[in-house]
Amino acid sequence: MAEAFNDLILPAEKAQRYAAVAEEIAAVLDGEPNLTARMATVASMLASTFDHYFWTGFYVVDETREAELVVGPYQGTLGCMRIAFGRGVCGTAAATGQTQVVEDVHAFPGHIACDGRSASEIVAPVFDPDGKLIAVFDVDSDRPAAFDGVDKDGLEGILKQVFAARR
Ligand code: SME
Repeated sequence: MAEAFNDLILPAEKAQRYAAVAEEIAAVLDGEPNLTARMATVASMLASTFDHYFWTGFYVVDETREAELVVGPYQGTLGCMRIAFGRGVCGTAAATGQTQVVEDVHAFPGHIACDGRSASEIVAPVFDPDGKLIAVFDVDSDRPAAFDGVDKDGLEGILKQVFAARR
């Protein structure tokens, strides 16, 4: 069943769609400096591009707290409010600064289940132009092993273009 799901979109087509949506996002955000608007646009456009995305959004670094993420712009069912650095998949991405690709969330130590239907997940760190961590971008799928290196490269490229590039 899992294989059948993942066969719906071939890696080459998925990579093409990431490239196309990256261009669309750049066009929509041209001249818009507001960070919330940029995050909301990325979440909306990616969620509507890919069928394997179930929950799509940002957890932003809460500067008023010690090593804590708070939910930001997202598309999907109700997300958890706060996640400490080091906890779950999002907290691990924040603490390590590395993208986490999780084929089976139930096998990930400390995974935080906001919606029981989530089966696999990818979380990428979001850096500003100075290289400072400002958020993580979290995508959950209700399909097992939905994310691979194509998603990792596609997402990291878009996040770099939207949040880390100097404009
Ligand atoms: N599953 C995430 C928490 C965020 S929700 O899935 C929206 C985690 O383990 O970090």
